[in-house]
Amino acid sequence: MEYVEVARAESERGELVLRERTPEDAGPRVLELRANGVFVMDTVEVSTERALATAALGLVPEPRAVVVGGLGLGFTMHEVLADPRVETCAVVEIEQALVDWMRDGTVPHGPALLADERVTVVVADVAAAVAEARPASYDLVLLDVDNGPGYLVHDANAALYSPFFLAEVARVLRPGGAVAIWSADQAPALAEAVASVYAATETIPLDVVLQGRAEQYWLYVGRLPASSPAAPATG
Ligand SMILES: C[S@@+](CC[C@H](N)C(=O)[O-])C[C@H]1O[C@@H](n2cnc3c(N)ncnc32)[C@H](O)[C@@H]1O
Repeated sequence: MEYVEVARAESERGELVLRERTPEDAGPRVLELRANGVFVMDTVEVSTERALATAALGLVPEPRAVVVGGLGLGFTMHEVLADPRVETCAVVEIEQALVDWMRDGTVPHGPALLADERVTVVVADVAAAVAEARPASYDLVLLDVDNGPGYLVHDANAALYSPFFLAEVARVLRPGGAVAIWSADQAPALAEAVASVYAATETIPLDVVLQGRAEQYWLYVGRLPASSPAAPATG
């Protein structure tokens, strides 16, 4: 397999590398993102990055304001923007360089995605962005910042799977809103943490084929109750 480095940057978390590989079967070239030596994602199999958005959008009748935690190569955001019900999409990405590569065309499909006027890009840790958000301001929060709670890209991200952070997310969700979290492996501790905060929870398996092998990735979902109906008028 031949790799060509496309871009490289340093941040306080280490090295971020975007590289391109040409598959042995001379199929379409593949972009691959690595953070600090850890594989983050590539463009070969992105059905579950897309499903994170489509599954969650299906749970909320009016997903007007959406947060996407982790820009990556933009596949989750692309699905969010494909939904005409979405009025605003705040994308929170910790690596400035990745946002730059998406904006300047280093990632070829990036500029068109970020040009959508519904998009706001926030360069921050999603933990800080959620902590600073106003209460009840979003309908959906989608999180895909690691390969799951069992395989972190940055150690500090462990806090994102805790009841404390999940309660912070619940605080910024409107009634009827939902959080959905992507994981490469089953994560029973995450399911428990979600259930400790949200009355309604779902664990959704997603079938994928990886190098000819059938595998599953997972979505963990927590939903807030819709607001109670207005009291009937009296008198
Ligand atoms: C697996 S990729 C996201 C893939 C994305 N769903 C897509 O469709 O392309 C994870 C992204 O989250 C970012 N990230 C990691 N930790 C973060 C954090 N604490 N806050 C915000 N972004 C973070 C990484 O830099 C990377 O861009």
